[in-house]
Order: sequence, then C-alpha cells, then structure tokens
Amino acid sequence: MNIPNPLSARDNDLSHIIEADRAHVWHHLLQHKALETTDPRIIVEGKGIRVWDAAGREYIDAVSGGVWTVNVGYGRESIANAVRDQLIKMNYFAQSAGSIPGSLFAEALLDKMPGLSRVYYANSGSEANEKVFKMVRQISARHHKGKKSKILYRDRDYHGTTLANLAACGQPERAALYGPLPEGFIQVPHCLEYRKQWDVEDYGRRAADAIEEVILREGADEIGLLCLEPITAGGGSSCLRQAIGSACRRSAGNTTSCSISTKSSAVSAAPAHGSAISTTACSPIS
Ligand SMILES: Cc1ncc(COP(=O)(O)O)c(C=O)c1O
Repeated sequence: MNIPNPLSARDNDLSHIIEADRAHVWHHLLQHKALETTDPRIIVEGKGIRVWDAAGREYIDAVSGGVWTVNVGYGRESIANAVRDQLIKMNYFAQSAGSIPGSLFAEALLDKMPGLSRVYYANSGSEANEKVFKMVRQISARHHKGKKSKILYRDRDYHGTTLANLAACGQPERAALYGPLPEGFIQVPHCLEYRKQWDVEDYGRRAADAIEEVILREGADEIGLLCLEPITAGGGSSCLRQAIGSACRRSAGNTTSCSISTKSSAVSAAPAHGSAISTTACSPIS
C-alpha cells in the first residue's frame, strides 16, 4: 500500500489524510455522525501554545491537547532532543532491569513527594490506577486476610477508562454501558460547594466528615484505599479542601492507604513496606 509521507503531505494536499482519517480512525470523545458531512479536524503542527489544522487554520490551544494532556506546549526542541538521544542510546528494555533515566526520574519525582519511596512506571493514568488497585488487593490478600480491600472513590471524580477505573468513577454516565464492573468500590459524597448538598459554614469540614461517615459505615478495617482527584476536573472543577486532607490523615491510621489522583503523568509509588499509596502521579495526603 502506498502511504503518503505525512511530512511532505503537510505542505501540500492533505485530502488523502482527511479521507483516511474519516474512513479508518475511531476517534475518542467524538460523535462520528458529524463526520459524514464535515471533514474531521486534523491537527498538523504545533508551536508554543498554538496549533494549526490541515486547512491552515491557527488555534490558541487553551485545552492543552484537547483534554489537558500537553501541558508543556508544542515544538519543544530540548524535549525532542532528549527523547531522540535516549532512543538512540537505549530505546527500551523491560522494567525487570533498571535504566539511567528511570532511576534519575524516580529520584527527582520522589524528592517532591516526601514520605514515598518507590515509583512504579506505567503507560497511562488509567494503567497507573489499575496498578494501585491491584496493590491494595494484593496487600489485602497477603497481610489482612481479605480485609482492607474496599476502595473508596468520590462522586464526580474520574480516574480512567478501564473497567476497574469505571468502577471507581464518580460519573455514572460514563460507566453506564459497561457493567458488570468489579466489586468492592464504594462511593463517598462530592464536595462541589456550588451544589450545596449541605448548608453549613465550613463546607470542606462537612465534606470530610461525610467521607469519614462512609468509612465508619463500611468498617475502617475494610477500607484499603481512598482515591481522590485533588482538583475534580471533568466532574465539575473543584479543589480538594484542606479539611479533606486532614480527614484522610486521620483515617489513614485505619486504612491501608490514602491516594490522590492527578492525571498527566503515569507513575505509581508505594512505600517500601507494602502499604500501597498512590495513583497516577501520587502523593501522600498532607
Ligand atoms: C484525574 C484523572 N485520573 C486518571 C486519568 C486517566 O488517565 P489516562 O487518560 O492517561 O488513562 C485521567 C484522564 O483524564 C484523569 O483526569
């Protein structure tokens, strides 16, 4: 098959690219019906905060790669050069062995996360969270005779696209078509103050108490993980309240771990002696 070189096509006629996309690419987060009558948008190039599409239109990318994924911006030569150099020197070896960048990055990352001692590399946020769920379950099986296996997640929070992450998804509309989902995931109330499910002075405190109520209801010795987005993003843009951090600290004595999930890097970390903490980019709650 004759596949046009995208780089040479970029400067010339992109009609083949547009038709190939329309015919063969299954896009994420996009209703395809519209593509029957309009061209799919092909993003061709980026520089700084700007991107250009196949029609030559210029955009300021205020959503960082469509879904908050390209926080460093576009066309960063220093990053491209570092990646190129590493690919030529040593492109891949399974993590059964170490690597120079893997060791150094883990050290630099943990330097920013006091209390954690180890990084597990994964390919995506979803995969990192899956790994954490598995850590919790393994610790439960090995050390707690099956107790401390339940995973708490918060209404409106999102943690990824796999089945276990959908079981931990506080947006039921995303999970609706994919059951049956894994068991043992328990929802705690959201803390979106503008929705005011509690009429109280200290909303953060009340939201924290609501989490604690669920922990006490389920039994503190049954809970292995509290999984939270520090800033609930797709679920309504709301920041983690200080009081919730404090409540997590308080209940951490009774649960296997507390975990805060953020999206854009894909690592998990765990303390040396078995209690899993973490998710995507992870930090102890402080
Ligand atoms: C808070 C949060 N956690 C996890 C994920 C999943 O990450 P990924 O898309 O890399 O699988 C996302 C993705 O949007 C996210 O927003």
